[in-house]
Amino acid sequence: MYSPYFELPADGPAWLHPQLAACLRRAGVTAADLSPAGDAALRRTAAAILNAACEEPTSSELDIDLLLDVVAGIDEARVLRGLGAAPLAALRRYDLEHTHLLRPPAESFTPYAELAAVVSLVPRGGSFADLGCGSGRALLVAALRRPDVSCDGYEVVGARAALGREMLARLAGGRRRRRYRCVSRTLGRSRLPPAAADVFFMFNPLAPSSLEALLRQLGGLAQRRPFLLVCKAMDAELRSAPAFRASRPWLRRLPTRGAGLPRGFSLFRAGTRARAGC
Ligand SMILES: C[S@@+](CC[C@H](N)C(=O)[O-])C[C@H]1O[C@@H](n2cnc3c(N)ncnc32)[C@H](O)[C@@H]1O
Repeated sequence: MYSPYFELPADGPAWLHPQLAACLRRAGVTAADLSPAGDAALRRTAAAILNAACEEPTSSELDIDLLLDVVAGIDEARVLRGLGAAPLAALRRYDLEHTHLLRPPAESFTPYAELAAVVSLVPRGGSFADLGCGSGRALLVAALRRPDVSCDGYEVVGARAALGREMLARLAGGRRRRRYRCVSRTLGRSRLPPAAADVFFMFNPLAPSSLEALLRQLGGLAQRRPFLLVCKAMDAELRSAPAFRASRPWLRRLPTRGAGLPRGFSLFRAGTRARAGC
């Protein structure tokens, strides 16, 4: 069983725990909606589950985030099947990074409600990047809630990035005017820096040497245009990174309270004008 609160068998009707069923009913979703036929129905169902995940105080107890992952096709059970087909060299590469494979979802992934708060920091018509995006939860939030935003996700585990691309093709496929990319890339080890964005997000994604190299690349981007950097649970890692300790000319910490970010998040303004506040 995937969750004590639901079962979505491939060849039969969905089962929902009565508490979860009641919560989804309030969001306008029934068990019959959980196997949507077609992309438009999937978008409607996913948007309603996302609303429940963002608004229901009991959403994490009821595994609503996990339900949304499964309905959108980006759950880790599918990633594990993909890992079986990955070449040994790729698995060795994953082993060098902080891939969080087999960690509990709460340690590995940011709750949808928190991702919605991060994505809401992107200015109208702006761009967003998740540095270590898993299977694209943050991109899913942007596709459903902020269709004005262009998104890039970078992910070392190829099977995760592949599921993210599949999900985006279904949930954001009709929105050709905006760019949605979920890229297989080992940040820091790749010489290619991430593309410029208005808001970058990372949740404890990188091994120390990769983080160091990525911070240098972000410092280079900051010379060209300002951006916000949002980090979750990364204070200790940042403090031990020499590139972060040397970042005062281009990175300035901002208060998180007015920005609507939960505890455990840090917010930085990056850019040459950040120098003024240091
Ligand atoms: C803690 S998860 C966070 C996922 C997502 N950003 C979220 O907040 O829900 C970190 C992700 O970063 C990926 N990752 C770790 N090191 C990476 C690297 N060097 N380049 C790209 N992705 C990396 C991991 O495989 C994992 O999917």
